[in-house]
Amino acid sequence: MFGKIKGFSIKDSIVEIRFENIEAKINIISSSIVNFFVPNFRNEQKSKAIENLKIEKYDFDVIQEENYIEISTKELIIKIYDEFKVDVYNKEGKLICEDYRGNREPFIKNCAGRLDIAAQEGHKPTEHMEYEVFIPKKMEDNMYFYGFGERTGHLNKKGCHYVNWNTDDPSPHGETYEKLYKSIPFFVTMKEEEAFGIFFDNTFEAHFDLGKENSNYYYFAAVDGNIDYYFMYGPSIKEVIKGYTYLTGTTPLPQLWTLGYQQCRWAYCPESNVMDIAKKFREKDIPCDTIYLDIEYMDDFRVFTWDKDKFKDPKKMINNLKEDGFKLVTIIDPGVKVDKGYKVYDEGLKNGYFATDKNGIVYTNWVWPGNSVFPDFMNTEVRNWWASNQRIMMDYGVAGIWNDMNEPASFNGPLPDDIKFDEDGQIRDHKEIHNVYGHMMDKATYEGIKNATNKRPFVVTRAAYSGTQKYSTVWTGDNQSTWEHLRMSVPMLMNLGLSGMSFCGTDVGGFGYDSTHELLSRWVQVGAFTPLFRNHTTIYSRDQEPWAFDKITEDINRKYIKLRYKLIPYMYDIFYKGEQDGLPVMRPLMLHYQNDEKTYEINDQFLFGENILVAPVLEQGKKARMVYLPKGSKWIDYWTKEVFKGGQYIVKETPLDVCPIYIKDNSIIPNYPEMSYIGEKEVDTLTLDIYVEDEGKFEYSHYQDDGSSFEYREGKYNLYNIVVENKDTLNIEVNLVYNGYDKKYNKVEIKLNGLSIKTENIDGNKLNLEINL
Ligand code: GLC
Repeated sequence: MFGKIKGFSIKDSIVEIRFENIEAKINIISSSIVNFFVPNFRNEQKSKAIENLKIEKYDFDVIQEENYIEISTKELIIKIYDEFKVDVYNKEGKLICEDYRGNREPFIKNCAGRLDIAAQEGHKPTEHMEYEVFIPKKMEDNMYFYGFGERTGHLNKKGCHYVNWNTDDPSPHGETYEKLYKSIPFFVTMKEEEAFGIFFDNTFEAHFDLGKENSNYYYFAAVDGNIDYYFMYGPSIKEVIKGYTYLTGTTPLPQLWTLGYQQCRWAYCPESNVMDIAKKFREKDIPCDTIYLDIEYMDDFRVFTWDKDKFKDPKKMINNLKEDGFKLVTIIDPGVKVDKGYKVYDEGLKNGYFATDKNGIVYTNWVWPGNSVFPDFMNTEVRNWWASNQRIMMDYGVAGIWNDMNEPASFNGPLPDDIKFDEDGQIRDHKEIHNVYGHMMDKATYEGIKNATNKRPFVVTRAAYSGTQKYSTVWTGDNQSTWEHLRMSVPMLMNLGLSGMSFCGTDVGGFGYDSTHELLSRWVQVGAFTPLFRNHTTIYSRDQEPWAFDKITEDINRKYIKLRYKLIPYMYDIFYKGEQDGLPVMRPLMLHYQNDEKTYEINDQFLFGENILVAPVLEQGKKARMVYLPKGSKWIDYWTKEVFKGGQYIVKETPLDVCPIYIKDNSIIPNYPEMSYIGEKEVDTLTLDIYVEDEGKFEYSHYQDDGSSFEYREGKYNLYNIVVENKDTLNIEVNLVYNGYDKKYNKVEIKLNGLSIKTENIDGNKLNLEINL
């Protein structure tokens, strides 16, 4: 396709390489991030994921050798050969990413040539043979693959094949599922402690084959579109994630209340039902911040309306909820009911805001409201209109919007490939925009809520593309109340986090099918440590609120929901740092222990930030489980305070109310006092739970702001630096190192291993404490 290299030229950060048949552009974004672009489909390079990319002037050299062109930056050496074969070396000259030069070979050879029968049996040996874009890389034995967004299966994706085509499939998602609701074309490859990432910015149906087709290579490919991918070097996975989120954006700091417990079900309705649920939480002393309304609150599923029989006075109801500390989040689907006289439909129709077929006739399909039309979110005017509709809900006092069915889902067969969308004057086929439809809806929703409230918008979405993290939190759609789905949720959320989606969660208790006392008890133990902590279930399923089973289950729910609230300031610190470095809240162990090979494939443990290791029970009836404690640190059992050396496997007994939790030695963890919802109490005491075993010195940085506005971006926040030194005595120093927010803490409470030992007033911006151990 490319032919031989003819020459090159340099324009700013871009090296243009002329091949016999086409030109490729290599954009040196930084010394470790490089974009490879070939306009084989369209000249224009227009990303939906990357906005306002800053390219600082980076130094690089280009030389032409006999059979390749070499570009070198401070971190990388990139060699480009004929046919646009690319090899990347690190600065020591070690080959880290090599293009595969051999032929493709389908992976089934021994079926007597009967590929037709193989296909009938569900094997697809030739299915993935035709792509417009196909980039194979050489596979090596000791390679690991992470990321790819929302996937079933395990943490390491080696040997798997995945498809990016946002899909609403209500059947129970098994390990073999190739596609789900989100398309995040990003992954990390690691070999011998050295990692790099690839972001393949192509919105068409894309494929990622990690050695399933053939063990000699892995590839990324797409049925259409440009060659447009970014290589980002580590060598640490942390650096790779930083690079990826530098391009596509980090998760912005959320409002504090969104970190509390959230209760959902399809569907709390009518109003009395909602109020009963709210009352129960307070009566039972189970903290909760948010209640959701599913589709039944609408007038016959017309978006931005209310069923006034079931909810007579939504504003009043929301105010009543507010008085008791609850926020209300409502669902919105993209499908607009075809219905003359319904404002949203009439307006959209009159202005040409809906997607059309190839003849320009408004396209309809079947969703919850029956015959429905689909807003053209590719169009700026349509997005602005959708954004302005958010005000309807915000004026009622709704606190956040839950965007569902935005793959887009349709009940009467999928939207045909050639349905037309108008990207500000340029007509695009559904085939090209399908994977970003939800993303653009989320962007519109975010902007609408921001305009209406001037607060940090809370949007929850089911469909997403790379970059959606800037606008929305994500949940993993319709899981089932099965142990299998609880087990898979852990690696799924860890990979979502590595893929930039820090604020993510699953339906706690499971959505489809019926939960059990034991499953919910174990699920809430995971949920307490997942960024989005929402219990949700389908219509007609067994109730699964914290009290819906027996007293034991209720007590376990209370215990873990309270633990979650205690840890919210710690979690908020992680989010604050994450807005800068892109690191997720829920982390696979290898993110911090890349030098400890034993962590590379741990599916059933995770780190909550850097300091808390969670090893939940994910199997029915399990009375004990093995836990791996990474090397390089001591670990303290959160429950028993026993201390363990890192680098070993231990067995922990796990009665139903015990989720194994270990705190890393030398940790400082800020705590909240007990409260029923965020904001119930003014927190004027900074509580620091300190874990320290040996002599030494360590620090922690704690963040404080108003918890809801964007003023922190103008400097209205406080930063505290806490230094602990353990020698003969324990010396603790709390310093207000940045003071931009007027509500400062006036006291500091010190806990040691969870036990309160001292509280003292802060006078000025500094406090020194000496504690005799
Ligand atoms: C979809 C959503 C689910 C919701 C249901 C009804 O299945 O994934 O969460 O409850 O629609 O709106």
